[in-house]
Amino acid sequence: MSKLFTPVTLAAPAGPGLDLRNRTVLAPMCQYSVTNHDGVPHAWHLAHLGARAAGGFGLVFTEATAVTAAGRISDADTGIWNDAQGSAWAPIVDFIHSQGAAAGIQLAHAGAKASTHPWLPGPIAAGETGNLPVPGRGWETDGPSASDAFGLAPATAMSTGQIADSVRDWAEAATRADAAGFDVAQIHAAHGYLVHEFLSPLTNTRTDAYGGSFENRTRYAREVIAAVRAAWPAHKPLAIRFSGDDWVAGGWRIADTVRFAAEAFELGVSAFDLSSAGIGKYHGPSGPGFQVPLAAAVKEAVPEAFVTAVGMINDPSQAEQVLVTGAADGVSIGRAALKNPNWPAVAAAALGSVRDAVPFAPQYWRAHW
Ligand code: FNR
Repeated sequence: MSKLFTPVTLAAPAGPGLDLRNRTVLAPMCQYSVTNHDGVPHAWHLAHLGARAAGGFGLVFTEATAVTAAGRISDADTGIWNDAQGSAWAPIVDFIHSQGAAAGIQLAHAGAKASTHPWLPGPIAAGETGNLPVPGRGWETDGPSASDAFGLAPATAMSTGQIADSVRDWAEAATRADAAGFDVAQIHAAHGYLVHEFLSPLTNTRTDAYGGSFENRTRYAREVIAAVRAAWPAHKPLAIRFSGDDWVAGGWRIADTVRFAAEAFELGVSAFDLSSAGIGKYHGPSGPGFQVPLAAAVKEAVPEAFVTAVGMINDPSQAEQVLVTGAADGVSIGRAALKNPNWPAVAAAALGSVRDAVPFAPQYWRAHW
């Protein structure tokens, strides 16, 4: 049997952990499809995530789902800052489960990169209507510092009181995500959004306990991890997604990620996904599997954790190689799964799984996997 389709268990602080039927993970991908500025997922999110659960993924992640209204990238993002949103996620989670997949939620705060149009560049200033698909209004954004690193309207530097409130938002979102039935909560600490903004010296120029040294820049992330871990049931795995490297001199680099991953593991994070960049102009590598070395570096630092690689892993044999070489324990698939929701089922057949082991929906048996 291929390694990619060998089941795996994600560890949790208590209990046996979470069994995944295979090591394919649907990467979190914003759909910008919420219709009423209310953060409530609906039929689109059910159809999109449900199709990929039916398509054979072991673990299906929601898009970046905001822990507070101001933390949305756009006002068409999903949220989990109130109970109406939590209740709307529950049937989506149920459907994912009914298809044999585990359900993960990516908890997110966009920080200084909030209040944008999903497809058009640039910010929407506070109070302006911008050009949203459903006209809404822009809002003031929060960040560690009033940085102009993004070419967006500078964020308001958060006070220590706002930081404490924000940490509470993450914990309350985790509680709602648990009630909705999610199996995994992933903290979005990548792509230049709020947690990453605190980590990177490019966006964090604070001079208090949350800025300056490595220890200080990682403080907000540690507080978020600890608060979410405390709110999230001990029998459920907690995950994090890092930008492993800013690919910018003087930024957050892979050595920082490796060092912090070990701390996060000690705080109870058992799954790591390694993306990159999001702050400053992109100077990084590209091409198939370009971020795999980042996953490999973290895997070496926290060998007990479940580490996934992501980024231009499009081909089943390429995905299998990532695992066979020991660079990672699983792969997150993004755009290839937009093209083909049945990516895992097709991959399993291509990698020679016996028919009974191909994760296809029985309704689709005539596809002759
Ligand atoms: C993304 N990506 C992304 N990442 C994330 O952490 N949270 C998110 O909500 C989103 N949203 C999103 C939307 C869309 C339409 C795309 C294409 C991408 C990044 C994504 O998870 C993944 O890391 C990249 O797409 C690279 O992987 P692939 O697409 O090369 O497999």
